[in-house]
Amino acid sequence: MNQLKTKVAIITGGGSGIGAATAERLAEQGASVMVTDINGDAAEHTARVIQQRGQTAQALAQDVAEPDAWRAVFEATAKAFGPVNVLVNNAGVSGAGRDRFEEPEGLDAWRQIMSINLDAVNLGCRIAIQEMKVSGGAIVNVSSVMGLVGGAGPAYNASKGGVRLLTKSIASYCGRMGYPIRCNSVHPGYIWTPMVRQIAEVHEEVSTEAELKEMLLLQHPIGRLGEADDIANGIRFLISDESSFMTGSELVIDGGYTCV
Ligand SMILES: NC(=O)c1ccc[n+]([C@@H]2O[C@H](COP(=O)([O-])OP(=O)(O)OC[C@H]3O[C@@H](n4cnc5c(N)ncnc54)[C@H](O)[C@@H]3O)[C@@H](O)[C@H]2O)c1
Repeated sequence: MNQLKTKVAIITGGGSGIGAATAERLAEQGASVMVTDINGDAAEHTARVIQQRGQTAQALAQDVAEPDAWRAVFEATAKAFGPVNVLVNNAGVSGAGRDRFEEPEGLDAWRQIMSINLDAVNLGCRIAIQEMKVSGGAIVNVSSVMGLVGGAGPAYNASKGGVRLLTKSIASYCGRMGYPIRCNSVHPGYIWTPMVRQIAEVHEEVSTEAELKEMLLLQHPIGRLGEADDIANGIRFLISDESSFMTGSELVIDGGYTCV
């Protein structure tokens, strides 16, 4: 279980859902993990769960959309654990209930969603490349099935589609520059996390979580919704040496959502 013992990882949005499961999975395999989240208490909670198992984690409050915060996060992580060689850009927000294209407040929602879901991924990758370009590393950007097909609202779809191509562009840039950095994206189907459960509050056709689950289930041929661990396992693979020939790839983990 020490497969990742040389990894020093920053995981954004690690206070909840996919980010928390990923932090736990990487730490379980020996990685030293810096859990960051705009909700500092939630990040602390994830780090504490890991520490209580005798594994290695610390927490930091970080707003990923704040450009100046990134350098400090990398510096604090290096000080705690040594040079960073893994970045998981996971923090994100959904557009549910806000991503109204035609209405006046639509432009504000667009800008806010873009700043967290896409601009922040760019910010993280820029610092990661500067920090890892000599010693090497792996970046995983959490996109979505909604970066492959439409249906979630223009801002969320555009942000996640942007993450997909930003990832490929960074992979190609690192190759061209001779930097030993791999960069891949992950595309989850619907995973039953707080982000998805909130959809029930704003969806026009469903009014309860049970109804929402039922509706989403029908869109996943595998017959269930995803668990955060399903995605954590994919991210673990992409940062491990098992995927050493993968860069610029999109790992779709969606129970068949995009095959129908
Ligand atoms: N749940 C799904 O079905 C699903 C599907 C596809 C993709 N995703 C993506 O997976 C990622 C994680 O989603 P989740 O379902 O675990 O959601 P979640 O809401 O459970 O967790 C997201 C975390 O990000 C944090 N966050 C939000 N804004 C932030 C900011 N500005 N700076 C730092 N942290 C911030 C939140 O505090 C929260 O802890 C997101 O990028 C999401 O778009 C989720």
